[in-house]
Amino acid sequence: MSWSKEELQRGLTTRILGRKLFVFDSIDSTNACAKTLGDAGTEEGAVVIADYQTEGKGRLGRSWLAEPGRNLLFSALLRPSTSVEMSGLLTFYAAVAIAKALEASAGVPVECKWPNDILINGKKCSGILLENSFQQNVLSYSVIGCGINVNQCTFPTELRDRVTSLALISGVEYDRKQLLQKILAEMDLLYLSVLRGDFERILDEWLRRCHMFGKDITIRQHNQLLVGKALRLNDDGSLVIQTPNGTATVYAGEVSIIL
Ligand code: BTN
Repeated sequence: MSWSKEELQRGLTTRILGRKLFVFDSIDSTNACAKTLGDAGTEEGAVVIADYQTEGKGRLGRSWLAEPGRNLLFSALLRPSTSVEMSGLLTFYAAVAIAKALEASAGVPVECKWPNDILINGKKCSGILLENSFQQNVLSYSVIGCGINVNQCTFPTELRDRVTSLALISGVEYDRKQLLQKILAEMDLLYLSVLRGDFERILDEWLRRCHMFGKDITIRQHNQLLVGKALRLNDDGSLVIQTPNGTATVYAGEVSIIL
């Protein structure tokens, strides 16, 4: 890793996020590591960061591929007393914090795509993998894994149309340590709302950056394709769509806007 744990700590202004830092050159997956910490009872605020992942995990069983040393790959371990029903909203919490940090750092508008993507100029710049652990129907911990394409400028051909990075957008290289400090600061600030159980502001901020509502969309779920108009979000973050057969509530899937 191009910076030490101490260097990262020095620029951190946070109270919770980054209380403990685990910095790796290479690891299987920062989410897997943060889950091990969670199971071992590590206090909330621990953040695992790696320069490279050999088994980076994406949503829907996919893998997350990122060139070594050019991106941000980290997972935060949190223990809010969020109810099981509302625990999916932690993805929106992280998305808003990342969006704000990217907007401030790159000076460009950032779009939030349901449920967990962050886009710039219509292309994916960041993904979030939320892994919640429950005990007796109570959230015991949440691992929020964030992958952000920062300085990587080449992507596999099959992804090129759909993926971007901060460097590709603005033509300059970013200081990854500073960017991480900024993201953790935004997460720390917004975590106060999470602790209060107040997701209203988070959802408002998220909705302000989401351009899907009122549009016709498709949602791919495993081998099923749903088609309808995106109507609204429920309080728990699930998506309500108008299909030819009535309204339907969707909890996961890959959304595309029909142009
Ligand atoms: C997605 O868009 O499918 C979610 C991608 C999440 C990737 C990040 S990278 C850091 C953390 N560790 C993982 O193994 N995955 C997440």
